[in-house]
Amino acid sequence: MGTALRGRTVLLTGGSSGIGAATAEVLVRRGCDLVVTGRDEQGLNRVAERTGARTLAADLGSDEGLRRVADRASHAEVLINNAGVGWSGELEAMTGPEVHRLLAVNLTAPVELTRMLLPAMRARGRGHVVFVSSIAAVGVGGEAVYSASKAALRAFAASLRYEISGDGLTVTTVLPGAVRTPFFQRRGLPYERSFPRMLPAEKAAEQLVRAVERGSEEIFLPGWLDLAARFQGVLPGTFHRLGRRFGQVR
Ligand SMILES: NC(=O)c1ccc[n+]([C@@H]2O[C@H](COP(=O)([O-])OP(=O)(O)OC[C@H]3O[C@@H](n4cnc5c(N)ncnc54)[C@H](OP(=O)(O)O)[C@@H]3O)[C@@H](O)[C@H]2O)c1
Repeated sequence: MGTALRGRTVLLTGGSSGIGAATAEVLVRRGCDLVVTGRDEQGLNRVAERTGARTLAADLGSDEGLRRVADRASHAEVLINNAGVGWSGELEAMTGPEVHRLLAVNLTAPVELTRMLLPAMRARGRGHVVFVSSIAAVGVGGEAVYSASKAALRAFAASLRYEISGDGLTVTTVLPGAVRTPFFQRRGLPYERSFPRMLPAEKAAEQLVRAVERGSEEIFLPGWLDLAARFQGVLPGTFHRLGRRFGQVR
């Protein structure tokens, strides 16, 4: 079921930068009452100045941060789980705390926020939960833990959809390819491929918001990446061999 956004209370995580900051601008243009979270207070302030959105600085990798975000936006009608971090390199190069932290931010936080906000949505008989996963959910070499977090998020969303659709609640999963944001610089490895070309964050944000308005179950950004995911699903061995040959999967 699609969600008409005008006047809706929206909680957007990871709104201090990149896709989230661009999404905040689109949501405010649509007339939403918006709460934006992140850790970077300067980034949040810039978004607040541009949009008038309310902001909350909190670390979603901590129980305390999660609780503060859930308390602040307990009556959100739309929850957009967008915050996420990358990590690039061989698995053995990753420390245990880095593994835990990535999974906490990319997987535990959206699961927990959804669990905490769902009762109010159910009671109202209306609500929309969005998960920003990634095309990496199909498996990408050098990003094993990141890819696993995004695949798990996709599966969580698909499972949740069985539980709550029909009760006036909708689940949308967004699987971007490459989007021009500080994500790559932060994970320590720039995006160096010429194909697929990077999407501007504004375009990704507009499509994310349209998916909410339409009530789409899953969207890929750009849309043709859907074919890559289907191909991987039908012929995983061939997909892997092609990935090795073209450098996508080591
Ligand atoms: N860019 C791409 O090509 C791409 C592709 C596929 C999927 N994605 C996904 O899209 C989402 C947005 O990424 P982006 O590209 O916009 O990257 P970005 O510019 O680095 O933004 C990431 C956002 O997540 C927030 N965040 C990270 N760690 C956090 C923590 N511990 N607590 C609270 N907030 C935290 C950041 O806020 P603070 O720094 O203020 O904490 C920031 O607002 C992520 O889930 C990412 O995995 C991106």
